[in-house]
Amino acid sequence: MSRSRVLVIGSSNTDLIVQSERLPRPGQTVMADTFSTLPGGKGANQAVAASRAGADVSFVARIGADAFGLQALCCLEAEGIDTTFVLRDPDLPSGIASILVDGRGENVIAVVPGANAALSPVQIDAAASLFERVSICLLQLETPLPTVLHAAGLAKEHGVPVILNPAPGRELPPQLLSGLFLLTPNETETEILTGILPDTEKTARRAANILMDRGVRNVIITLGARGALVATVRETVIVPAPTVDARDTTGAGDAFNGALAAALGQSRPLADAVAFANCAGALAVTRVGAQSALPRETRIRALMDPQPQ
Ligand code: RIB
Repeated sequence: MSRSRVLVIGSSNTDLIVQSERLPRPGQTVMADTFSTLPGGKGANQAVAASRAGADVSFVARIGADAFGLQALCCLEAEGIDTTFVLRDPDLPSGIASILVDGRGENVIAVVPGANAALSPVQIDAAASLFERVSICLLQLETPLPTVLHAAGLAKEHGVPVILNPAPGRELPPQLLSGLFLLTPNETETEILTGILPDTEKTARRAANILMDRGVRNVIITLGARGALVATVRETVIVPAPTVDARDTTGAGDAFNGALAAALGQSRPLADAVAFANCAGALAVTRVGAQSALPRETRIRALMDPQPQ
């Protein structure tokens, strides 16, 4: 099977991660365990996830002309990702995310977007030639919405299917959803988009139907350890995820979306691509950090198709 060619447009951050057995309540100070500075950002994480899952990846983003930005760029290049259209903004700092992770692997995240907020439709136009060479385009919402809309429009003009991972969650304009190839909200994002928390299969099906009624062609609602609900015009099914010990859930959604894009870019069937992506997401939570925890294709396949002992 030929390698898929994935275009990721989105954010790059540096993650400032504190691990602490307990998360502080407002006004409380807790003594924490470890601190790490690691590359992150939903766009960059998904680019790395797709690359490690076996795709050729081009990434379009905006970073600052500072040490964090340079380090982020070096990490992307070390992965073999095409960064021709990652611009270094002379005036703005690189994006950062302040992340607290507790003893159960749950996190809270606050992002300061910096240069990500200046990723503009003009910069997407400058990279338009990329749409001629890719099989799929992956977008998220850590960059300005007009830029996401513009990128989705250019993808449509070039006949490139778009996966929109609507993270962080927010309401979306009808023109972005109408005709969209694939939307991949998690539970929280689904509730923001539909008003329905998909805490049961029945509510997840209802939420997916609402999104399809708005013109989305395929919906995948990621349900954490329960796997993912996959809704198409033909059927709606739950694809279960393997059980793992979670150390840090940061970047699990990015692992899922990047691996999904890599698999769909190879024209693999949706249910097979989701099973592959579920394994990528599961492996990502077994290690600390976002990009540092993203699995390679061989590990994903080994979890998906365990060899008989
Ligand atoms: O999805 C995880 C990412 O969200 C982190 O890497 C952080 O940078 C925030 O963007």
